[in-house]
Amino acid sequence: MAQFSLPKNSKIQKGRHWATPGAKQPRTFKVYRWNPDDGMNPRVDTYEVDLASCGPMVLDALIKIKNEIDPTLTFRRSCREGICGSCAMNIDGTNTLACTRAIADCGDAKNDVPIYPLPHMDVVKDLVPDLTHFYAQYASIRPWLRTQSPTPSDRERLQSPADREKLDGLYECILCACCSTSCPSYWWNGDRYLGPAILLQAYRWIIDSRDEDTGARLDDLEDPFKLYRCHTIMNCARTCPKGLNPAQAIGEIKKLMLQRRV
Ligand code: SF4
Ligand code: SF4
Ligand code: FES
Repeated sequence: MAQFSLPKNSKIQKGRHWATPGAKQPRTFKVYRWNPDDGMNPRVDTYEVDLASCGPMVLDALIKIKNEIDPTLTFRRSCREGICGSCAMNIDGTNTLACTRAIADCGDAKNDVPIYPLPHMDVVKDLVPDLTHFYAQYASIRPWLRTQSPTPSDRERLQSPADREKLDGLYECILCACCSTSCPSYWWNGDRYLGPAILLQAYRWIIDSRDEDTGARLDDLEDPFKLYRCHTIMNCARTCPKGLNPAQAIGEIKKLMLQRRV
């Protein structure tokens, strides 16, 4: 998958190396490092981890490095079970979640495991990308149920099982940004193109039978950049760690746009 490109601030230098003497099952991790406060260029540090005393996931290795080898290493994580989306990064050439990516699945056991921040994003520090713009784009679609009719006084707004099923493949999105940061169109036009994650979320509200603002939602997306920069390259669907298909959701929005023109 040709999705990897370096973060924006990326004159990478050779970094430091930590060996683990006496390791029974050593595996080497090469990790992108950059600290805006130390005035140095980005570098790649090399850490040898003993897998005999480490959990099976890449996040386990990063936590072990931080706890036992180098406390300055910085990354985001929270749930450790693929739900919060905060540990998204580029591991072994693929955007994915560190907590659900098994170390054993990262190439051959003898290979180094390269770990970089999500590509084409500004970096806050080390493996932490700046998601400010991504979240602002999410806010721009106003991602909540929008209604004009009065709220029923005696029950919630109901939905048939068939209508509820239309949300399958959409509601599971954890906004990790793996897809958007693997999308070449988002790399080049991320200032105006909403990207696969936000468009999948937009479709999640457009298709919700309880929402009463579908026309306005489509009007907001009727824009040469916000929606139509998707060229069906499909990196988004290939990389999504939740197995979702943002490109399909984008295609459905385009279909709705066409239908309302005829
Ligand atoms: S669609 Fe998948 S890759 Fe994209 S933000 Fe949602 S969960 Fe992450
Ligand atoms: S299908 Fe569209 S959104 Fe997905 S990677 Fe390609 S251009 Fe980006
Ligand atoms: S720590 Fe929450 S998704 Fe990885």
